[in-house]
Amino acid sequence: SAADKGTYPFYMLKEVDEQPVVMRKIVQEYLNEDGVPVIDQDLLETMKKADRLYIIGAGTSYHAGLVGARMFERLTKVPTQVFISSEFAYEQPIMSERPFFIFLTQSGETADSREVLVNIKKQGWPSLTITNVPKSTLSREASYTLLLHAGPEIAVASTKAYTAQVAVQAVLAKAFGMARNQQEAVDFDLKQQLGIVAVGMQAIVDSKDQLESIASRYLATPRNAFYIGRGIDWSVALESALKLKEISYVQAEGFASGELKHGTIALIESKTPVIGIITQDRTAGLTRSNLQEVVSRGASVLTIVSKHLAQADDTIVLPDVDPLLTPLLSVVPAQLLAYYTSLGKGLDVDKPRNLAKSVTVQ
Ligand code: AGP
Repeated sequence: SAADKGTYPFYMLKEVDEQPVVMRKIVQEYLNEDGVPVIDQDLLETMKKADRLYIIGAGTSYHAGLVGARMFERLTKVPTQVFISSEFAYEQPIMSERPFFIFLTQSGETADSREVLVNIKKQGWPSLTITNVPKSTLSREASYTLLLHAGPEIAVASTKAYTAQVAVQAVLAKAFGMARNQQEAVDFDLKQQLGIVAVGMQAIVDSKDQLESIASRYLATPRNAFYIGRGIDWSVALESALKLKEISYVQAEGFASGELKHGTIALIESKTPVIGIITQDRTAGLTRSNLQEVVSRGASVLTIVSKHLAQADDTIVLPDVDPLLTPLLSVVPAQLLAYYTSLGKGLDVDKPRNLAKSVTVQ
């Protein structure tokens, strides 16, 4: 069955490897021959009435929402905000007149996210759940559902659900942008780009040996580590750090690279691993300078860089793709670095201590 780990030692590795197939499945499910999104018209009509999108999620799903918000704003021009569900639930911000809610939840069962859904329904607001599990609680209770089509995700550390959440949000952002006559959404060749992503992901998962050796050289012994980036790369830095923390128990932080010098740089010691994510033209030079600042304090710097921005001494070079979709590639080496760090320590990769796959308490 799809939920069988076969010859894989852990589900996580299998699920990382499945990501190119999941991307192709999403293309097949959601984009027609001409690359036009196939999305429920009623959902788009409801979204068209909204003056602001509110994306709600926890953990990795929250991190996928941070990426999604950038896509929605660029392709639809509708202001979009992202909230951690357990925060929104107990301190609702001042709302716009006509909010539309997007719940991101792999399991569809996260209690914190459900709490928000229950509250916003009482206020009469429409909602969409993007989930991997048909008929899950949040799917049943929201006005609309879009499925991730990622197949069962068993490992506690979420991998293919994250990339599926990013890809399905890209589909929805394109569809909604087109419904709002936004030229940028029309021009965004998502079908072609997701094809490039699938090939790129395959190249990264095929470079496991390199990632295993980087993990054993740089991440096996340190107490802490940092992922840094700006903009969309910062969103991926947060997810990358969460992966490393939850399965390898290395205390990791995802940080906005420009913010380091405002305090956190005090933590950099000799050999502290700092991993820079660099995929955006506008911020590449700035993140490079921030890496220089930590190098001069003795940090061990690694880089995850898009090909067109790569320099001779970069560690991991990613295939080029549309700047809005770089998280689909940059996250994969980070997933594998976390995996091999955990594996190298002899930990139970799929079932890290203190964690459950779906968190049904508030
Ligand atoms: C991911 O690696 C985590 N185990 C966790 O943050 C998870 O993403 C979170 O609990 C949300 O779960 P959901 O997507 O099923 O709502």
